[in-house]
Amino acid sequence: MESTFNWGIIGPGKIARQFAADLAFIPGARVHAVASRESSRAQTFAEDFQASFYYGNYAEILNCPNLDAVYVATPHVGHFDNTIACLEAGIPVLCEKPLAMNFRQVELLIDTARRKQTFLMEALWTRFLPSTQLLLELIRKGEIGELVGVKADFGFRSDLPAEDRIFNKALGGGALLDIGIYPVFLALLLFGKACEIKAMAKIGSTGVDEDTHVLLRYAGGQLAQLHGSFLADTKREAFIYGDAGTIHMHADWYQQTQLSIFGTHSEPQLFSVEKKGLGYHYEAKEVMDCIAKGKIESDKMSHALSAALMLSLDSIRREIGLIYPEDE
Ligand SMILES: NC(=O)c1ccc[n+]([C@@H]2O[C@H](COP(=O)([O-])OP(=O)(O)OC[C@H]3O[C@@H](n4cnc5c(N)ncnc54)[C@H](OP(=O)(O)O)[C@@H]3O)[C@@H](O)[C@H]2O)c1
Repeated sequence: MESTFNWGIIGPGKIARQFAADLAFIPGARVHAVASRESSRAQTFAEDFQASFYYGNYAEILNCPNLDAVYVATPHVGHFDNTIACLEAGIPVLCEKPLAMNFRQVELLIDTARRKQTFLMEALWTRFLPSTQLLLELIRKGEIGELVGVKADFGFRSDLPAEDRIFNKALGGGALLDIGIYPVFLALLLFGKACEIKAMAKIGSTGVDEDTHVLLRYAGGQLAQLHGSFLADTKREAFIYGDAGTIHMHADWYQQTQLSIFGTHSEPQLFSVEKKGLGYHYEAKEVMDCIAKGKIESDKMSHALSAALMLSLDSIRREIGLIYPEDE
């Protein structure tokens, strides 16, 4: 008989709805409990996804019976507190990106996961998408030769009000942590830790970055050129350059199912993968598989990878002069 995996959700906003809907693609996975700051919102979400329990605060879910893991989907500043509360209660966590506001907080979360022997993973959904697996496979097989660099952007024009979490400094807003993180993560996945980072940003009226450009250099000589923006609809493409060809991840590269390889002397070759739903179930399945094996971290999205990602983001923030209250 198929076993049931009971997910709890903290912060039933936009992404939590998409995540919950995608759980339908995993046999046995279900929304078991949901916690909102407001009981009526939790109740509506629970009804929409047939959850057994709902709570009007984030504390009571920690005592929910038969909970297998919690998905934290609150604004960035909430990730640390929500995640550490779950870990201290011995509840495995999948926490939205960025895992916390800075490296110090990420370190504390990882220490807590290890001390409590409880699973922790950052919900960097692109890491688990079929297109990323294809990309890594093509590179591993040498299809574009030795890597020489990457160029990637993620930008859209946002007309959301200044109070919205994406512009609100008190909620950890800003283009870098919200969407620039995806190109930064792509470069990290390909090249590891950068040895030099340069960045420039336009800081908007709310004190957060609205348009951020980043250049990175790696010990092997590779270069990365990355861009995250709330000010303009960029092409949202990624190019991974090799000495024998280039992989073009078509728009929107972070959620595409197609990519192509082109070179100076050859016709472009198109590659496609299948993706079910929006693709949030791939990361959820990884969590479930790891927990079933008694692991406290994923090999694909390890604690070390999250720590390295946050170190990069901290370095970029130093370059653009973006300091959050959590850094003080
Ligand atoms: N993986 C992806 O593709 C993806 C896409 C979008 C967003 N995200 C990430 O997911 C997280 C949530 O983003 P979202 O777009 O879903 O945001 P959202 O719609 O604003 O939802 C966030 C939820 O957090 C709760 N919350 C707790 N404290 C809050 C506060 N002070 N102000 C506002 N809401 C607060 C709210 O639920 P209650 O008040 O009901 O508790 C709210 O519904 C962020 O970390 C973001 O980076 C990831």
